[in-house]
Amino acid sequence: MDRALVSAIAHRRHPIAAPVSEESAFALITGLEPELVSDSPRILDLGCGSGEWLLTALKVLPGWDGIGIDLSEPALDEARRKAAAEHHLRDRVRFEHSDAATWTGGRFDVVICIGATHAFGGLGPTLDAVRRHLLPGGRVLLGEGYWEGAPTQAALDGLGAAPGELPDLAGLIDEVQRHGYEPGYGHLSTAAEWDRYEWSWTGSLVAWALEEADDDDRDAALAVAREHRRQWLAGYRGQLGFATLVLHDIGT
Ligand SMILES: C[S@@+](CC[C@H](N)C(=O)[O-])C[C@H]1O[C@@H](n2cnc3c(N)ncnc32)[C@H](O)[C@@H]1O
Repeated sequence: MDRALVSAIAHRRHPIAAPVSEESAFALITGLEPELVSDSPRILDLGCGSGEWLLTALKVLPGWDGIGIDLSEPALDEARRKAAAEHHLRDRVRFEHSDAATWTGGRFDVVICIGATHAFGGLGPTLDAVRRHLLPGGRVLLGEGYWEGAPTQAALDGLGAAPGELPDLAGLIDEVQRHGYEPGYGHLSTAAEWDRYEWSWTGSLVAWALEEADDDDRDAALAVAREHRRQWLAGYRGQLGFATLVLHDIGT
């Protein structure tokens, strides 16, 4: 099955494509406490998926506009549908199909990049790329994985990760600081948030396979859900962490 379609279906019950609850996401967005850096404040979301973070931020920050960038057409369609359904957001947000690593479009008061550092080749290049889009004094909302301890081979295999590809939590904060940012607030996903995210992911796909798909897609979707569930339960569950951080740009 097409990966973008799988992802769109898998996130039906949990539109934030990260192990973060709606309540935690709201607290993080509130925790941005962005100063009005410009007269017409704007938010950029790199790898926006179906736009949950950006649309929630625009609800919290009336008078702000936003742009979301992603390569998944199904996710962007869903983001545009949600924006249109909320009349006051329709004119304040634009979702663009573009590679976040090469996109250009000026500087922003807030830059969001959650679960999408792979688009830039890892955490360090992401932090550098984000700075190119950020106004002086702006804020970053960054979401990134980390290992809770030394990962087992099963955890690495389950994630398809190489040893050393992800830091531990202290290493993640070190890397952020090395790139000239200071955490001002943060959230570490709980075990309950992880379980809810993964059960929603696999469960949405199972429901689609059994209730909506034709025979070929049914078998393919069930195979993807089973493989994902096995990689999680026999692999990275309890070992993979996820941090979402509000960062101040203090320069290098
Ligand atoms: C794990 S999802 C996170 C989505 C969203 N930030 C969220 O938390 O709900 C990663 C997203 O990055 C997008 N992505 C991956 N590579 C990209 C690229 N080069 N440019 C833009 N988006 C990309 C994927 O399509 C996907 O929607």
